Amino acid sequence: MARTCIITGGAGFIGCSVGAELARQFDQVIAIDSLHPQVHQQPVRPASLHEKVKLVIADITLAETWQALVQHTRPDVVVHLVAETGTGQSLTEGSRHASVNVVGTTRMLDAFAGSGRLPERIVLTSSRAVYGEGAWRDNRTGEIVYPGQRSRAQLERGEWDFPGLTCLPFAAVSTEPRPTSIYGATKLAQEHIVRTWASSFGIDVAILRLQNVYGPGQSLSNPYTGIVSLFASLARANQSIPIYEDGQIIRDFVFIDDVAAALCRVACKGTPSINPYDVGSGQATSILQLGTLIAHLYGAPPPHVNGAFRNGDVRHASCDISPTRTGLDWKPMWSLEDGLRALCDWIDVQQTLARR
Ligand SMILES: NC(=O)c1ccc[n+]([C@@H]2O[C@H](COP(=O)([O-])OP(=O)(O)OC[C@H]3O[C@@H](n4cnc5c(N)ncnc54)[C@H](O)[C@@H]3O)[C@@H](O)[C@H]2O)c1
Repeated sequence: MARTCIITGGAGFIGCSVGAELARQFDQVIAIDSLHPQVHQQPVRPASLHEKVKLVIADITLAETWQALVQHTRPDVVVHLVAETGTGQSLTEGSRHASVNVVGTTRMLDAFAGSGRLPERIVLTSSRAVYGEGAWRDNRTGEIVYPGQRSRAQLERGEWDFPGLTCLPFAAVSTEPRPTSIYGATKLAQEHIVRTWASSFGIDVAILRLQNVYGPGQSLSNPYTGIVSLFASLARANQSIPIYEDGQIIRDFVFIDDVAAALCRVACKGTPSINPYDVGSGQATSILQLGTLIAHLYGAPPPHVNGAFRNGDVRHASCDISPTRTGLDWKPMWSLEDGLRALCDWIDVQQTLARR
């Protein structure tokens, strides 16, 4: 029997990357994507979308999108990537995030349930944003505490860290999700919705909580996402990269090919675990380190720490990938240095093409 995979958001950054491998594994791959103008400068099929992937340009929040799809297709596997992703933007455009991330997901599930055309597996890309600030250890008592969101007053005073506490890497098995942004809250809602629905219908689910994904193919025009490409653009223009807070904001930067490999693993083989998988490089990197590496790659002036801050930014975000390494028999293959070089080479090519 021919096997079909649907990728929602299949024309996006992660979608194009994972689509190429899924096109090798499935007989039919259908990407559903609205080609959102914030992500796509032009409403055209991305050149990097694998030729075997059929692109359906449609909005996942509309019931008719799904009714049309399930009339002709019973998906075996759904890789659900569509999301409004801007963390800061979600504070002022929360309804957009709720509509796409929450209602878009329930529309899809309603259509599967209503038509009886149920997939055997759903893969959901969740986010590190579900953890918020995550768990920290009290330096005096050793107790694990959840300090929650940093207040605006605290940030205005330049108190970046939580005094007396040391941050711990996120781990799905032990860190309670406590989102500090509307984006994070909608991603957590997506997790609950997909898991509850799938368990009622006996459908396999895999949830991957992604850290900061970067690499060739990421949007260079979306101002709300992609700190790595933003830094690269500044350094490429020989500007000093401005670094927020005191430069010690921590992130885990994971290369796109490593994320695509993890996604393909669960899309093709499934997973016995009910826990989400943390997908990152496993390496904690400060924003200052990132800026310095990128400036060095371009021979740009060194970055400068400017003490500015962004509402809703978490201070520390890195993760323990050991359960994912074992559970998925997967490991990240790209170092940050090699990944950044690949991204910068790709940006150079894009800029040259754009000038023609
Ligand atoms: N990129 C990261 O660093 C990162 C980190 C954590 C989690 N994630 C998650 O991974 C997933 C994919 O992220 P990405 O970086 O590829 O994002 P992206 O913005 O590049 O891709 C999303 C795609 O969804 C499409 N889309 C948006 N709204 C739509 C709608 N209403 N109907 C149909 N299509 C719509 C866009 O056109 C775009 O092509 C998201 O669920 C995101 O939450 C990404």
